[in-house]
Amino acid sequence: MRDRIKNLLDKIEQFKIENAAQAEQFRLEFLSKKGELNNLFADFKNVLNEDKKEIGALINQLKEKGQSKYDALKQSLSASDNKTNSFEDYTKPGFQYASGGLHPLTITRQSILSIFERIGFTVASGPEIEDDWHNFSALNFPEDHPARDMQDTFFIDDKFALRTHTSSVQVRLMENNKPPFRSLMPGRVYRNEAISARAHCFFHQVEGLYIDKNVSFADMKQTLLYFSKEMFGEQTKIRLRPSYFPFTEPSAEMDVSCFICNAKGCNVCKYSGWVEIMGCGMVDPAVLQNCGIDANVYSGFAFGMGIERIAMLKYRVNDLRLFSENDVRFLKQFQAAND
Ligand code: DAH
Repeated sequence: MRDRIKNLLDKIEQFKIENAAQAEQFRLEFLSKKGELNNLFADFKNVLNEDKKEIGALINQLKEKGQSKYDALKQSLSASDNKTNSFEDYTKPGFQYASGGLHPLTITRQSILSIFERIGFTVASGPEIEDDWHNFSALNFPEDHPARDMQDTFFIDDKFALRTHTSSVQVRLMENNKPPFRSLMPGRVYRNEAISARAHCFFHQVEGLYIDKNVSFADMKQTLLYFSKEMFGEQTKIRLRPSYFPFTEPSAEMDVSCFICNAKGCNVCKYSGWVEIMGCGMVDPAVLQNCGIDANVYSGFAFGMGIERIAMLKYRVNDLRLFSENDVRFLKQFQAAND
């Protein structure tokens, strides 16, 4: 029995395995049910009782040797198999990486900014947590204006609130710099509204400010007409309706001719042929004075538009909530719109 074990050990050690077929042969010869090791175990019952302990240990050692030689070789064979398949076949197509896309609001914001950048506007930003002065008082909001109400504004404490519009950035810009100004101020704003398809407690705006000597209402009209044509198409017309904002005088609301039905009338423009896209006006001299700018020398215009509103019109999205839900089925549809 001892000799048999010794012989088998030699055989196992000398067995050359270089490929999968040889590994399988090794397994059949030594490790399988009908292999030599199992035969040894079968004959173990004939070993004398006093030798059982020693012989048993030897057989176990032998089995471990055989199994570990087989396992190690098998592993290295399968590693080199993989290597051949994935790295050495240069005719295989490359790995495919799923690509992401820009958010529709990002795409819209970038198109707005780039249209104005082409006529010399630069981009400025300000904080989302604002004090009363920058969000309201400097912009000429009277003490009892309803926008200052808790119902519209998220107050943090009696000094600070989440900004309700990006007009606050106008104030910071004018306070900290010298005219002329030709700036755009994109950003997120907050209002205390019940969330629905048409309203949300946060959304995004782009504010515009143009201040220089001798700026007139006609300059504003021409600038906004240029923007509208670039954004919605060469045939776009604009109209200005009188309105009221505390920080502009005169103030207007601007409509563009409906680019969905070519102003023929559809449910987007409610059969009027016009869609409202922004508020605008000549900056009130009181606001210029509040920001330390001489209103006898300088004048200018401001405007503000909602990015969601423009994206909804452009992409015909009918529920505001879709923009912040991050549903990939929605977001994926804008991949093609990335420039
Ligand atoms: N701040 C206004 C709002 O949130 C939008 C606006 C209107 C901005 C007229 C302006 C402006 O700069 O001139 O509704």
